[in-house]
Amino acid sequence: MSKENQNELYNLDRQTTDLEIDQNIRPERLDEYVGQEEIKENIRVFINAAKMRNEVLDHVLLYGPPGLGKTTLAHIIANELGVNIKTASGPSIEKSGDLAAILSTLEPNDVLFIDEIHRMPRFIEEILYPAMEDFEFDIVIGQEGNARNIKIDLPPFTLVGATTRAGDISSPLRDRFGIVSKLNYYTDDELQKIIERTSRVLDMPIESDAAKELAKRSRKTPRIANRLFKRVRDFALVNGDEVITREITMSSLERLHVDQYGLDQIDIEYLTSLINKFNGGPVGVETIATSIGEEVSTIEDVVEPFLLQEGFIKRTQRGRVATDKAYDHLKIAHYPDALF
Ligand SMILES: Nc1ncnc2c1ncn2[C@@H]1O[C@H](COP(=O)(O)OP(=O)(O)OP(=O)(O)O)[C@@H](O)[C@H]1O
Ligand SMILES: [Mg+2]
Repeated sequence: MSKENQNELYNLDRQTTDLEIDQNIRPERLDEYVGQEEIKENIRVFINAAKMRNEVLDHVLLYGPPGLGKTTLAHIIANELGVNIKTASGPSIEKSGDLAAILSTLEPNDVLFIDEIHRMPRFIEEILYPAMEDFEFDIVIGQEGNARNIKIDLPPFTLVGATTRAGDISSPLRDRFGIVSKLNYYTDDELQKIIERTSRVLDMPIESDAAKELAKRSRKTPRIANRLFKRVRDFALVNGDEVITREITMSSLERLHVDQYGLDQIDIEYLTSLINKFNGGPVGVETIATSIGEEVSTIEDVVEPFLLQEGFIKRTQRGRVATDKAYDHLKIAHYPDALF
């Protein structure tokens, strides 16, 4: 077997184990879900009220940057309701038949989770409206000429939609969700709790100052906190450590190129390009994306929200601009035009 193939196999293997791990560390009940207190409390009330009335829970729209726990929360909602969850993703529903196939598997009060709901084709959205409002599904059968409409009754169900781009959701669709919740970035304390929880689940102890350091560098995002934890755990294991110490944490983070703000290589490339190639901006996102060889959607959905939130960049009418904080962080001298 060629070296490349071997590597590929190794990577595949590693992905499956990581996936399995992800299943294990995903909290299953509201009580285990760290942070997002307001959302949690509201959802708890709405779930209890729905149960007391013996009615289906209203449709829920969850939005916010990647890795903040939307999918996790959708599963928790189903668990707390004690119903099944059926999942689909916006782009995978291409034909009305795809939607019909999913809807036909629903049992009363089930949760239908549609991830990336902003990427659902518009005509699918339109056939989803009557399903959401009246639990009815209209389909056209037969060929042109003798085509006819039939109405299919659906059991009451809760649609949970998730999106990283609330702005891309049409307002008629958004208006049909009774509960709309925006997930926020996590505090360092919350991330520390998540890391310590993961450490217990995976049975690999971590010192609290090590967990604190990891939390600080996790871009305020649980998925990244867990990912960093897993990688540091690999370094500790190979090093023969039974506990993750601050020392192994610091050296692993250095080897992973994660800096003290949690910025990784792609963030640094983005900022370096913005400053060095485009004189700190303003410059359009497409131009930056091309210059560092990344997809515009990755830049917009994954990279920029955190850089904006932390004040490394600003968005202006004319494009992205690097802030003083970015110059300071990259140790590049900054002479704003206004001085000359
Ligand atoms: N509040 C939380 N408490 C504990 N763990 C969490 C929490 N939120 C997320 N996680 C962990 O972070 C991981 C990522 O969360 P999840 O997959 O739910 O994010 P997401 O918002 O759906 O991301 P994407 O937009 O990329 O689909 C999960 O595997 C889960 O273990
Ligand atoms: Mg998700």
